[in-house]
Amino acid sequence: MGDTLTITHGDDSLSAEISQGTIRATELKKIVTPDGPLATYDPGLVNTASVKSSITYIDGEAGILEYRGYPVEQLAEHSTFLEVAYLLIHGDLPTADQLAVWEDEVNHHRLVHENASQVIESLRYDAHPMGKLMSGVASMQTFYPDARNINDPVARHENIVRLLGKMPTLAAWAYRHSVGWRRVYPSDELNYVENFLAMLFQMQERLYRPDPRLSRALEVLFILHADHEQNCSTNVVRAVASADNDIYTSCGAGVGALFGPLHGGANEAVLRMLREIGSLDRVPEFVAGVKSGKARLMGFGHRVYKNYDPRAKVIRQAVDDVFSVTGVNPLLQIAVELEKIALSDEYFTSRRLYPNVDFYSGLIYEALHFPPAMFTVLFAVPRTAGWAAQWLEGVLDPEQKITRPKQIYTGERRRDYVNIDNR
Ligand code: ACO
Repeated sequence: MGDTLTITHGDDSLSAEISQGTIRATELKKIVTPDGPLATYDPGLVNTASVKSSITYIDGEAGILEYRGYPVEQLAEHSTFLEVAYLLIHGDLPTADQLAVWEDEVNHHRLVHENASQVIESLRYDAHPMGKLMSGVASMQTFYPDARNINDPVARHENIVRLLGKMPTLAAWAYRHSVGWRRVYPSDELNYVENFLAMLFQMQERLYRPDPRLSRALEVLFILHADHEQNCSTNVVRAVASADNDIYTSCGAGVGALFGPLHGGANEAVLRMLREIGSLDRVPEFVAGVKSGKARLMGFGHRVYKNYDPRAKVIRQAVDDVFSVTGVNPLLQIAVELEKIALSDEYFTSRRLYPNVDFYSGLIYEALHFPPAMFTVLFAVPRTAGWAAQWLEGVLDPEQKITRPKQIYTGERRRDYVNIDNR
């Protein structure tokens, strides 16, 4: 007999097997309360495992993040984004031949249907690029209806590589529409990240080649953002997929979830916060405001990490690399001072609030000349690899059920309709 949890309640009792630190929530139904079978109340699903997953491992206490068992720091040092995408989706690192085929497949699918560019360009030029990206991704389902055949392995693979290939193109076109520049089409001469930068920033040159130090820094950021187990947007992707939805519909919803300032929108919020603070001497006043509940220190705190976010450490290094090319941004000084004060202040240490991935990434994006509205887009592009892996894992999981949580009803009970004249 393994570890079990025994609960008694009046005449009812249950003995639930504890497996991998959890019990089956449905076991609780054996206890009947005056309001019905026992369930748990868990806003934000903070203590509820909704899936079994073998993709990403996080130990928030120890500050560990691994993709398929490989520490993210090693991947950031040695790997490329497309290799990491392969790892997440297939489960193992590719051989040289497998990687060559994979890169070729993804790059082959970078072109986007002209009508999809019209979807983006029909929106207002000053619309947030995440709104444009969300529409572009969701519209992909209409161009590739075979994606609805989620039980066909060939269609699944084809649409995963399509989405990975097209995501940077949609993101770049969303940006260029905002600034009124004509679209740049993918180039076979550039790798995934270089090509993305070219589609964003190429002007009159025949071939735009970004500084390799800058494209490597963006590649590292892409690797660090590729997956993060059951975060808000991934949970949304899996919930939408649980209704047997295609990858585009599911990931379009994921883009929407990521847009939120408490999730992917945080790095944009960090930059705004640093600008608002404006100078070093105003840092103590801002920190005092945070402690009195007037504001949040954006880029600090994490639902899972109660220690330094391992991605923030790698990014801190990348900040130095990027600034060695572009020159130092004065906002960096404010960020460093904020971090110093927060890490030695009881308010933050007692709540175990440490810098998260977003605290420094915005500074890198700004140094690469991205406007703040593009920051979340730069998160969505690489996170697509994780969403795709998680979408696929869900589709293949015999235990996947349509997501349908319970509620605790607190409203009125039966009332008879009252005619409008009598209210
Ligand atoms: N600044 C100030 N106080 C904070 C912060 C912060 N950034 N984050 C949490 N706290 C405080 C809360 O006020 C609360 O204090 P209390 O116990 O006195 O009420 C305590 O710390 C716990 O906070 P919760 O909101 O319960 O923590 P939760 O796990 O729900 O939230 C979150 C996590 C949303 C990330 C939060 O820390 C936050 O808002 N951070 C700022 C936004 C941010 O950087 N988001 C990026 C997350 S990483 C990502 O999505 C890629």
